[in-house]
Amino acid sequence: NSSNHVRIVEVGPRDGLQNEKAMLPAAIKIELIDRLSDTGLTTIEATSFVSPKWVPQLADAAEVFRGIRKAPGVVYPVLVPNLQGYERAREVGAGEVAVFTAASEAFNRKNVNASIDESIDRFVPVLERARADGVAVRGYVSTVLGCPYQGEVPVADVVRVARRLHELGCHEVSLGDTIGVGTPAKARAMLRAVAAEVPMAALAVHFHDTYGQALANILACLEEGVRVVDSAVSGTGGCPYAKGATGNVASEDVVYMLHGMGMTTGVDLDRLVETGAWLAGQLGKATASRVTRARTAA
Ligand code: HMG
Ligand code: MG
Repeated sequence: NSSNHVRIVEVGPRDGLQNEKAMLPAAIKIELIDRLSDTGLTTIEATSFVSPKWVPQLADAAEVFRGIRKAPGVVYPVLVPNLQGYERAREVGAGEVAVFTAASEAFNRKNVNASIDESIDRFVPVLERARADGVAVRGYVSTVLGCPYQGEVPVADVVRVARRLHELGCHEVSLGDTIGVGTPAKARAMLRAVAAEVPMAALAVHFHDTYGQALANILACLEEGVRVVDSAVSGTGGCPYAKGATGNVASEDVVYMLHGMGMTTGVDLDRLVETGAWLAGQLGKATASRVTRARTAA
């Protein structure tokens, strides 16, 4: 892929906030998304319509989605695990959704209380309804480079699940290193294997930075041809059902690297840094973004 443009999928309001100890009020979440809408980001995952018993941090999904300013040219996908989630999302006008499963059976069981195939069965009707409604569906595959319960995850399992999601109608499949254990050569080999079955243009990469490998992994995947990268402003979050997993790679750090490489994102780094610093203040913790730390140092 010779394109110089990378689309950043900002997942902070969902993947970030779903696993923060601090429960932010809906008004602050709305302000976060509105601020992100002014940075030039074109995809902002706003929240998730999962069971509030499982993820209390996002129990206010409907209020948040209703409250955000829908900026022209920006899409606001939301996570849904089943038809019930899809219906809740549609009730408030969501125009794009994301379904999620994993390459590891053990992880999927902890995350959604179902086997991989059962979780896919649950969102087959979501994909059918979405097609009829003209709603785009993104698919996530978790634990593509390792699982907190099963350890190694065979690449063949990642390929099988990614191919299935694509066949079912997901326009984009995001490959998630949920616990941030991957390293660049492994990430590259995994992406290459998946891209043999699913077009590269339909793939995204999603790295958590637990072991500090996320930027290196992203670089390896860019070299392989991927042009969609998930990240979270200020590097917040993690997965509540993945023990020890820390936040997503920070959007500020990804944008800084890409611009430094002469690639374009359409994102205004200064505004993103401002938003990241503001969010860290709201959460009452230091930012996990090295760029924001450097730019806002006293
Ligand atoms: P379950 O308990 O097996 O489901 O949970 P159930 O169908 O038996 O329903 C139990 C109760 O939940 C019922 O309520 C349902 O109505 C309710 P009750 O009768 O007990 O009062 N319920 C719902 N309520 C609201 N919205 C819904 C919904 N569905 C059922 N959509 C379920 C199964 C999938 C619902 C649950 O396990 C769940 O919500 N899990 C979500 C876990 C989650 O959000 N994990 C984090 C996101 S994934 C991630 O972070 C990875 C990613 O970032 C990529 C990466 O990093 O790898 C995407
Ligand atoms: Mg994630």
